[in-house]
Amino acid sequence: MNRRVLITGASSGIGAATARLLASRGYSVALLARREDRLQRLAEELRKAGAPDPMVLACDLARPATLEPCIERLQRDWGALDLLVNNAGVGYRARVEELEDAKLEHLFRVNVLGSMHACRLTLPLLRKGDAPGVVLVASVVGRRGIPGQSAYSASKAALVSFGEALRIEWARDNIAVSILEPALTATGFFEAQENPAGLAAPDLSRASGPEEVAQAVWMLDRHPRPELSMRWKWRVLGMLSILAPRLSDRMLARRLGERWIAPQR
Ligand SMILES: NC(=O)c1ccc[n+]([C@@H]2O[C@H](COP(=O)([O-])OP(=O)(O)OC[C@H]3O[C@@H](n4cnc5c(N)ncnc54)[C@H](OP(=O)(O)O)[C@@H]3O)[C@@H](O)[C@H]2O)c1
Repeated sequence: MNRRVLITGASSGIGAATARLLASRGYSVALLARREDRLQRLAEELRKAGAPDPMVLACDLARPATLEPCIERLQRDWGALDLLVNNAGVGYRARVEELEDAKLEHLFRVNVLGSMHACRLTLPLLRKGDAPGVVLVASVVGRRGIPGQSAYSASKAALVSFGEALRIEWARDNIAVSILEPALTATGFFEAQENPAGLAAPDLSRASGPEEVAQAVWMLDRHPRPELSMRWKWRVLGMLSILAPRLSDRMLARRLGERWIAPQR
C-alpha cells in the first residue's frame, strides 16, 4: 500500500510502533518529534527493513514556527499527504494546584494547539491526498476526567471536541477524521511525566502494548470511524458521567483509591 503518512510523536511509544507497522505495510512515513537522534535511529531501522526512504522532521510542536519548515519539506518531497497521525502528547501526573502556569501552558501548547497547528498546516496537503484521513490520538480520559490528571484529561477532552467538529468541517474535503482513545498503554509516557507530588504510578501490568494502539491506527486508516475507544468500560463510564455523574465520580474514586465524600452544605 503506497500511502504517505505523517506521524507526530514518532520518536517513542505509540508513534514509533505506528511508524514500524505502517512502514511494514508499505506506507511512506514522515517521522516528527523533538528528539532527532531517536528519529534518525528509527528511520535507519525502517530503511534496513525495506521501508521506502523515511523522512525525519525535527520539530517542537510547542513552537509552531518549527512546524512550518517540516510542512514545506512534505510539500516539496511528497506534494500531498494521505494520512496524518496526530499522536504527540505530554502528560502530568499532578493535581492542578501543583502545576505552575508554565507547565499548564506547555501541556495545552503540545496536546491541543500542537494538534490544531498540525491539522491546519497539513490541510492543503491532505486535500491533494488519496482517500485522505486524520487519526487524532486522544485518550479515554478525554471522555471522563480522572483525579490526579485533571489538566491532562482536560487537554484530551479538548482534542476530542476538536475532532468531533473537524469530522464535519472536513467531510466536504473528503477527509475522514477518526478519534482514537487509547487506555493505559505501556510506553515511556509515565517516566517522562512530571510528578511533583510523587503520586503513585499506574500499574502497567494490565496495560495495552503500543503495538495494539498502532494496529488500531492502521485499522482506522483502512476503515475510518468517528471514534474508537480501546476499552469499552471507559466508554460506559463516559456515558454514566452524563446520566449519573455522582455515581460515576464515586465508582471512579473507588477504583483509583481516592477518598471521596460528597461536599456537605
Ligand atoms: N501511554 C498511555 O497510557 C496513553 C494512553 C492514552 C493516550 N495516550 C496518548 O498517546 C500519545 C503517545 O503517547 P505515548 O504513550 O506513546 O508516550 P511517549 O512514548 O512519551 O511518546 C510521546 C511522543 O510525543 C512526542 N512529543 C512530546 N512533546 C513534543 C513536542 N513538544 N513536540 C513534538 N513532539 C513531542 C515525543 O517526542 P520527543 O520527546 O522526541 O519530542 C514522543 O515521541 C500521547 O498523545 C498520549 O497522550 C497515551
